[in-house]
Amino acid sequence: MIEISDPQQMRAWSRAVRSSGQTVGFVATMGYLHEGHLHLIDRARERTDQVVASIFVNPIQFGPQDDLLRYPRDLEHDRAAALQRGADCLFVPDESVMYPSPPLVRVAPGSLADHLCGPRRPGHFEGVLTVVIKLLHIVEPDVAVFGRKDAQQAVIIGRMVADLNVPTEIDVAPTLREADGLAMSSRNVYLTEEERRAAPALARGLDAAHRAFQSGTRDPEALIAAVRQCLAAEPEIDTEYVELVDQRSLQPVTSVTADALLAAAVHLGSARLIDNIILGEGTAADIRLKG
Ligand code: PAF
Repeated sequence: MIEISDPQQMRAWSRAVRSSGQTVGFVATMGYLHEGHLHLIDRARERTDQVVASIFVNPIQFGPQDDLLRYPRDLEHDRAAALQRGADCLFVPDESVMYPSPPLVRVAPGSLADHLCGPRRPGHFEGVLTVVIKLLHIVEPDVAVFGRKDAQQAVIIGRMVADLNVPTEIDVAPTLREADGLAMSSRNVYLTEEERRAAPALARGLDAAHRAFQSGTRDPEALIAAVRQCLAAEPEIDTEYVELVDQRSLQPVTSVTADALLAAAVHLGSARLIDNIILGEGTAADIRLKG
């Protein structure tokens, strides 16, 4: 595995691969790689000949209240994990090369950030889109794989690529879950033992709504209430939002169909966790690690 930190060298590597007739796959990460990220690398491997994974903790997607300084980092572990999983190239740029000066021009998500995490994290998706478009311009991948756990992010990136004619296919991989249903996230390390025990209530709540939908419930408020009820059973959990939206426009739905996106964010101690399902699928469509 080659490691590159310079954007021009990264682009030259990728262009050399592509001019040899091979395809390039890409997984963008902020490091602290867990099984969920490695699964994205596997997926990129299946789809393309050479896989690039990037590690860059993007400061402009963190708000003043967010956890930039304490965001977990472990480059040694990430190198070993990416190598072991068969990534061909690790792109690890410094902040000074990604942002030689603060970016004045940024990509705006428009109405796609009006709901779910958007209003709770002002500027977050603008920061994500701005770094992702930079990474796509540097790596020039044929396919970029993002995780469905960050559903709003994946939808907004897909729309950016379509609206701005970026020649990269965005592939969205199912969420990887622990045996008890908790979606894998770098932020799970913040959970205390007691909070970790309570955390699967989020996935259980989403599944409760899925079951209610399967039994014929079509009232959005009733489906949202099914999630909230599970969350309320765990006193450690502070619910930020539970929303049911159209999976393309990300606007709230009034008439509920199987392909609506049911998403929630909760606070558990110092961790903020998000999760979602496509209503008609529940978490069964995701990948659960064996306990
Ligand atoms: O999902 C993430 O880890 C980040 O938002 C991303 C896509 C790597 C951009 O910094």
